[in-house]
Amino acid sequence: MQEKKLWGGRFSESTDAFVEEFTESISFDKELALYDIKGSIAHAKMLGKQGIIPQEDTEKIIKGLQEIEQEIKENKFIWKKEFEDVHMNIEKALTDKIGEAGGKLHTGRSRNDQVITAFRLYLKENTQDIINLLEDLQRKLLEKAKEYIDVVMPAYTHLQRAQPIRAAHYFLAYLEMFQRDKERFIDNLKRIDMLPLGSGAVAGVDFPIDREYVAKELGFSQIMRNSIDATSSRDFALEFLSNCAICMANMSRFSEDMIIYSSSEFSFVELPDKLTTGSSIMPQKKNPDVLELIRGKSGRVYGNLVSLLTVVKGLPLAYNRDLQEDKEPVFDSVKTIKGSIVGITKIVEGAKLNKEKTQLAAGGFALATDLANYLAEKGVPFRQAHHIVGSIVGYLVTQGRELESITWES
Ligand code: ARG
Repeated sequence: MQEKKLWGGRFSESTDAFVEEFTESISFDKELALYDIKGSIAHAKMLGKQGIIPQEDTEKIIKGLQEIEQEIKENKFIWKKEFEDVHMNIEKALTDKIGEAGGKLHTGRSRNDQVITAFRLYLKENTQDIINLLEDLQRKLLEKAKEYIDVVMPAYTHLQRAQPIRAAHYFLAYLEMFQRDKERFIDNLKRIDMLPLGSGAVAGVDFPIDREYVAKELGFSQIMRNSIDATSSRDFALEFLSNCAICMANMSRFSEDMIIYSSSEFSFVELPDKLTTGSSIMPQKKNPDVLELIRGKSGRVYGNLVSLLTVVKGLPLAYNRDLQEDKEPVFDSVKTIKGSIVGITKIVEGAKLNKEKTQLAAGGFALATDLANYLAEKGVPFRQAHHIVGSIVGYLVTQGRELESITWES
């Protein structure tokens, strides 16, 4: 015999096993458990303070939730698919623990405003983590730029040697990109950091609740004004997924640079042994798997954005069960981007430049623009100077000579 569902009142037969399996989200949304408990404690405190439920029930609820929190942290809590999601698993455990008072926690609240409160708390914390990780990465890039300030390397366009630059200039390019990535996450925080609780299922709540108090308890700096919007909008998460996608694109480019620069053909960069892997068959191999995986994982992070965009597109207001599909893409992007930033940071910290190689590659024809500029400074129109140097380069190439070998005579 199945246990009665928390919403089972109007049903005369128990849920089909397929439906239970198909609709459950506990297998992934348990990630939100601690945020759900945080939200519930704040809600219970508010209900007590407002006299909506007796103060002693608030106390029982808080104590019960704290015990559940401990069990979850110690991995002792048993999650059950028959209770569908993280919210109902916790509420059921609470009622089993403290009896009738547990059933009062859901007064003036719906799962629709409950789930999105937990989700926003989760995303706020993780966005802050990502911002901090990006800052660590920037610090490492700055250190590398300082370390290699006097090393010259070629800058490439079209992956052809273009002009000589300081290696510092190269590293600082990525520092700028990650600065913009970081700013995008910081800006996103403004729109994540809003309290939806108090919106009920869609049309608000009939009890004299105090949302300012709940917002303060949970550390939200704003309160969502419209209950329809609060329960059904996911644009804050779309923005987050888009920020992740852009940041992964930047990290993927850096990975690609390091992969080619560390190949024997370039030999500009030596990656530390501890960050590379060997081949099971070719003993000489030292593979940049971490970088390849970051480049590869950018695919799933782009996919996560498209996934949620597609879920949201065409959804009638307000909450629809489709929105349960908002979680996995976000959880996956959070995990992937955090790992990738750590990986890139370690690579930046450990990478060694081969100064002789980069210097050598930066000489020769990479100096052609400087020669053209020299002529232009002497009064030759730049277009003409460009043409002259171009013919010199063409001539030297047929002779198998480098630019440095040119003299006034030949
Ligand atoms: N697990 C659901 C979700 O993630 C919670 C909200 C369910 N609400 C409902 N009306 N069935 O979206």
